[in-house]
Formats: sequence, structure tokens, C-alpha cells
Amino acid sequence: MKKNIAIFASGTGTNAENIIRYFHDSESGVVSLLLSNKVDAPALERARRLGVPCAAFGKEEWASGEAVLSALREAKVDFIVLAGFLLRVPEPLLRAYPGRIVNIHPSLLPKFGGKGMYGGRVHEAVLAAGERESGITIHYINERYDEGGVIFQASCPVSPDDTPETLARRVHELEYRYYPEVIEKLLSE
Ligand code: GAR
Repeated sequence: MKKNIAIFASGTGTNAENIIRYFHDSESGVVSLLLSNKVDAPALERARRLGVPCAAFGKEEWASGEAVLSALREAKVDFIVLAGFLLRVPEPLLRAYPGRIVNIHPSLLPKFGGKGMYGGRVHEAVLAAGERESGITIHYINERYDEGGVIFQASCPVSPDDTPETLARRVHELEYRYYPEVIEKLLSE
């Protein structure tokens, strides 16, 4: 039986699109819902174009978790994937999906994680610190930002000529290559 995946995304949604496309051809899962906290998130438009049901909830609805939880239940969601989602996952969702919510972070955690560290800010901090390598971390979600158990990491070099944009591109390539595969493996566990 295919597992139903929900993606939470706040922004551009290139990872969300990549995951949706990957699972079009998978026996193990399908993306059956995309939820956002921003009504104008390009991620919503990508989902619509690919025929994936989607919705946006306001800040309070995300904080209480009730409406989100009933949308997840209605779509019979088994597994939740965060892809550029910038809000904290509310307690009721953590309780309803123990060990079944994962996130991707664009650095080698525990370096350059924590509140306020997302997207371009992470790459700026990596460059400012003079790091020679960066990468991605896929990890379980718990009640603290970027502190759940690490599932997978992959690294890439950082060159002295890098800008936040060139580094972001390299890190995104790792995300596109590994995130769907890692999710697929977790679905079968
Ligand atoms: C991705 O690089 C993801 O790792 C990062 O936001 C980007 C979203 O890009 N997530 C975080 O920084 C979470 N702390 P996308 O919207 O194009 O997929």
C-alpha cells in the first residue's frame, strides 16, 4: 500500500516540486497534500500545477495545530516532510506523528542550525565563518529547532570565491539528489 505523504513548505518550493515528481513514479508513496503558512508561497502554485491538493493556514491555526491535524487526517497522511518550512511544528502534530516528521536543513548540523537559521542566512553564516565544507542534514523533528536525531548527511566543498547564491545552488543539488530517496527509505521502515 502506498503511503500518503504531506509536505509543509513556506517558500519557493523547489524541493517540494522535486519530491512530488519523484513520488509520481514510486510504488512506496505519493504526495497527497501540501500545506503552507503563507497564502502566496510559490510552493502552493507548484503543488496545484502538479495536481496535489494544497492549503494555507494562518499563524494561529499552525500554533494550535487542530485544523492542520484534521486536514492531515482527512487526507489519511502517514508521513510528513518539511521542505523549507519556517514555523515550529505544533505539539499535537508531534504527538500524532511520532518519528514520522522529517526536515531538511542546508548545513551540516549541529553547525549553523537553530532559530532564525534558514535558507540564504545559513549560507551567509557558513561563508562568514570561512568553512571549507557545507552540506545537508536530514533529521527527525522534535520540539526544538534543528535538534532531532540525524538521519542522513551529505557534504560539498565551499570555495573561497563562493557567494551565498553559488553555495545555495550546490547545496540544493544535494537536496534534490538525496531527499526523495531518504524519504522513500523511511517509508518502508
Ligand atoms: C532549502 O535549502 C532547505 O534546506 C531550507 O530552505 C530551502 C528551501 O528551498 N530549509 C531550511 O533552511 C530550514 N531551516 P525550496 O523552497 O526551494 O525547497
